[in-house]
Formats: sequence, C-alpha cells, structure tokens
Amino acid sequence: ADLSIGKVAGDRLVCAFHHWEFDMAGKCARTATNDPVTSAMRVFRYPVQERYGLIWAFNGEEPLYDLPDLGFPDEELAFHSEIPHLDLLADPWVFMCNTTDFNHINIVHGIEVDGDPSQDIDWHDHGYSYDLRGRFKETGATIEYKVGIHGNNIFYQMGSVNGRWFAFLYPCGIHRPGTLRSYFVIATQKSDGTPEDDKRVQETLDFAQALEISVVDQDVEILNTIRFTRGMFTRGDKALGRFVDYLKTFPRAHPGADYIR
Ligand SMILES: [Fe+2]
Repeated sequence: ADLSIGKVAGDRLVCAFHHWEFDMAGKCARTATNDPVTSAMRVFRYPVQERYGLIWAFNGEEPLYDLPDLGFPDEELAFHSEIPHLDLLADPWVFMCNTTDFNHINIVHGIEVDGDPSQDIDWHDHGYSYDLRGRFKETGATIEYKVGIHGNNIFYQMGSVNGRWFAFLYPCGIHRPGTLRSYFVIATQKSDGTPEDDKRVQETLDFAQALEISVVDQDVEILNTIRFTRGMFTRGDKALGRFVDYLKTFPRAHPGADYIR
C-alpha cells in the first residue's frame, strides 16, 4: 500500500495494510502481529526537505539541485499551501509543456503576451525561466511575471497582476505513471503587523488562489486527453521543442524500483 495513506507514529511510518512500522532508515522495525521482521521488509529512503509548507522528496539518492527561490527570503513571506484535489490524467512533464507553449498561453489562457519572450528564455541545467509581460485579454489586467520550470515537474511564477505581487509554485507529484497530483504554494510579502496590511496579505493570497484555480481549470479537460505528436510543432513552438529535447535528456531515476515488487 502507498505509505502516504499510512500514519506517522513517533519517528516511524506505519503502513495502512498490515501496520508494519518503518524506521528513519526505511527498515521495518516491527510488525503489528509480532511476525518476525526480515531484511527484505524495507523501503527506499528518499532525500526530503520541508519548505514552503510542503514536504518535498527528490527522486534520486542525492538532490541534484535546490528548490526555486521565490524572490524574497522565506522568512519575509506569508504562505498558503494546499493539495487542491486536482488529480489529472497526464504525466507532470506534459503539463509543464504549457509554460513554453505560447500558442496555448494565448488561445486557452487568453493572455496577450508583449514581444516574443521565447527569444529571451534563460535555459539552465535543471530548467528555465523567462519574463512574461502582457495582459489578460478579457479583463485587461496587466501581468508582470517571471515564470519557469524547475526539474520536470515544478512550475513557478513570481510577479504581479495589476501591481499586486505574489509567487506561485505548482509542483506536480506522480503517484502513478500517466497521472499527476497537484500541489499549490502561494506566497506574498508578510504583513507589517497593521490590520490594513494583514488584510492586504489575506486578500492577495485569496486573489492569487482564485486566479490560479481558474487558470488550471482552463487546462483540465485538455490535459486529461492530449498526446503530443512531434511532427505537428509549428513556428511558434520553437521553445516548446527545445523543452521537449531537454525532457529527453533529463536525468532519470527510480531508486525505489528494487523495493517495489
Ligand atoms: Fe495551460
């Protein structure tokens, strides 16, 4: 059974299926019925980090890169983190392809982008970022974002809509091949302690959450059905093609494979 549906008891993780207790090294330390423990009863211990209100696991023995920074030191930010019950029928990398898909950003998300940001994408070993300036065609609200992909399953965005600053992280977990589970982290500058600024923080977090939910809603039905066909890329898909090439060479790891039978 997936240990995510188990329980934490002291410094052990208890499996829901037979209540085997796993210690910090991933070894079974005890069975609930006192059946003897064997050396095969263990799971892989992933490197983890607690940050932005979530627990992050790296799919490998050692992390190859850090989490994205959000533009301010963590202690200067107020966070809202949630698992918004958005499981989709697409691998995380398929969703991440939206971020360099400028045709999609225009048509589906109704964003009129200034200039050609695909010319100024900052590609690095474990992702990319670029400046997105423009406006929502429907409301005219102006957008000044830095957006990017970290690894192959973390979307990040920081900047402002109509001058209101917030950061948004959208990591996608892969609990089964061909599916993704959504996680949301929204941040804005912490309150200075005055009631007006407390109000600004809450309003900004609520505004950003509603905005991001509405953007993701525009993608749901599409993501549940799309398949890529490489030969169909068009002139506006240069950056998307480069991202697909990046995905092909992205380091692959399944360190838990030997522990799953
Ligand atoms: Fe999208």
